[in-house]
Amino acid sequence: MLRGIDLVDEAEQMDIHVRQGREEFAQAVDFVLEKGLSDFLEIGSFHGGSAYVFSKALRERSTVVLVDTCDRKGAREKLETVAQLIRDRDGHKVTLIVGSSLDPAVVEQVQAFGITFGLIHIDGSHYTEDVCLDYTHFSPLLRTGGVILFHDVVVSKMVNAAWKFIEKTARKGGCKTKVIGGDHWNPSKKDRNFWATGIGVIEG
Ligand SMILES: C[S@@+](CC[C@H](N)C(=O)[O-])C[C@H]1O[C@@H](n2cnc3c(N)ncnc32)[C@H](O)[C@@H]1O
Repeated sequence: MLRGIDLVDEAEQMDIHVRQGREEFAQAVDFVLEKGLSDFLEIGSFHGGSAYVFSKALRERSTVVLVDTCDRKGAREKLETVAQLIRDRDGHKVTLIVGSSLDPAVVEQVQAFGITFGLIHIDGSHYTEDVCLDYTHFSPLLRTGGVILFHDVVVSKMVNAAWKFIEKTARKGGCKTKVIGGDHWNPSKKDRNFWATGIGVIEG
C-alpha cells in the first residue's frame, strides 16, 4: 500500500525536495490517497517537490497542470525536468504554465482545459488578497468530491487571514474544512521534521 511518508522519502532520494514540513505533508498525501483523486492543478510548484509527490498519489493517466512564475534562476528548467519525470513515471498528461496565477490570461489557460480537478493545491503568492484571488479563480474548477489544499495556513499571518475568509465561505457553501498539522514551526532547524505550518483542506 502506498503511504505519503514513503512517497516523500522516495522524492528525497531522487533529490526532489518538497518545500513543506515532512510529517504534515505526508499526512496530506495520505488524505489524497484515501480519496482516490484524479486530475491535479497546482498553483506554485517551485522546483516540483509537491507536484512530484502528489502526482504519484493520483489515479492513472491524470491531467496535471502546474502554474508557476518560475522567476528564480534555473527554476523553469528544474520544474520542466520534474514534469518530464512525472510523465515518464506515472503516464500523466503534464502541462507547465509559466506565468502568474493572478493574470487573467493564465486563468483562461487553465479554464481552457475544459475539465474539473480532483485535487487543487494552492501554494503560490502568499499575500492575503492573492490567496483569496486564487481561491476565487480556481475553486469553481473543483470537482464534486475533490479537495483543495492550501499551504501555510497557520504559520503565515497573511495566508492565515486568507484561510479564515476562505474557510468561512467554503463552509457556507456546504463544504467540510479542516487543517492538517500546523502545530510547530522552527525555521532555525533545517530538518523539515521541525516544520509544521498548517495545510488547510476544503472538501468539495
Ligand atoms: C512555496 S513555493 C512552492 C513550493 C512547492 N509547492 C513545494 O511544496 O514543493 C511558491 C512558488 O510559487 C511561485 N509563485 C509566487 N507567486 C505566484 C503567482 N502569482 N503565480 C504563480 N506562481 C507563483 C513562486 O515562484 C514559487 O515557485
